[in-house]
Amino acid sequence: MYIAQLARDLPSVPGLAQCLWPWPDEPRDCCCVATRFSWETGCLDRPAGPDIDIPPWIARAAPRRRAEYIAGRCCAGEALRRLTGKTTFPGQAEDRAPVWPRGTIGSISHSGDIAIAVAGSSARYCGLGVDIEKPLTEAEAREIAPQALTERELQRLRTPADAFLIGLTFSAKESLFKALYPTVRRFFGFHASQLVAWKPAGTGLLSLTRDLSPEWRRGQEIPVHFRYLENFVATRVSIEWADRQVDRASRYELY
Ligand SMILES: CC(C)(COP(=O)(O)OP(=O)(O)OC[C@H]1O[C@@H](n2cnc3c(N)ncnc32)[C@H](O)[C@@H]1OP(=O)(O)O)[C@@H](O)C(=O)NCCC(=O)NCCS
Repeated sequence: MYIAQLARDLPSVPGLAQCLWPWPDEPRDCCCVATRFSWETGCLDRPAGPDIDIPPWIARAAPRRRAEYIAGRCCAGEALRRLTGKTTFPGQAEDRAPVWPRGTIGSISHSGDIAIAVAGSSARYCGLGVDIEKPLTEAEAREIAPQALTERELQRLRTPADAFLIGLTFSAKESLFKALYPTVRRFFGFHASQLVAWKPAGTGLLSLTRDLSPEWRRGQEIPVHFRYLENFVATRVSIEWADRQVDRASRYELY
């Protein structure tokens, strides 16, 4: 299978049991790594784990939370190793955002027993966001839709419980939040953007519905990439510094 073919090379994180590369067509200076993990044993296939700094509040957390934290860091460590040649692990800030080593930027997500991280050069990217979600049931989709979707998005659903599109929209916005948070530096909700287009091949376009900062204005459009990974939906938002300077409408010729 395709994913199995991508599980190439030995990961550098000691004992990282499984290593998946979700996007073979990764943009330059960027690497994304995912892994399955167990809530009991984490993602390591032997006890001697890597040198991940565990904050006291994570050390005190439930085993499941510790496992997902470590699994996310393992993915980040491997992504950073592939990017920079050096295995390092992001810390955690008080606002929960990961703290990336100098010269890098990235994002982490986990859902169920899968974790994913993307890391890239901070010279090339001003924002990287990644999210992974298990497929929604129709009941979950119906419940999430009014909170996560704008009026326009709700109107464009094929059915009120379109689990795929509601899940994709939710995940894309989570990725957008993680990508923009380092520059916007404040919380913004799900109605601050909307998915205005998407293609089954794995691309979409988010549009801001209001100003978030002097740089991020209402109407600005930001591409999102998505794909299925082991039955989960993964989304990625990668924003290059260069793209912020140009007219997006003319640059993104996806739609
Ligand atoms: C912060 C948030 C995006 C995390 O998503 P989640 O579904 O709870 O969980 P995920 O597994 O996908 O992501 C968790 C990871 O997000 C990262 N994260 C947390 N806060 C973050 C922030 N402010 N900025 C960037 N990344 C952040 C962390 O790495 C965390 O994992 P860790 O604690 O193990 O390091 C979510 O809780 C949230 O607040 N969402 C509402 C804001 C939003 O999405 N708005 C939509 C904008 S259009």
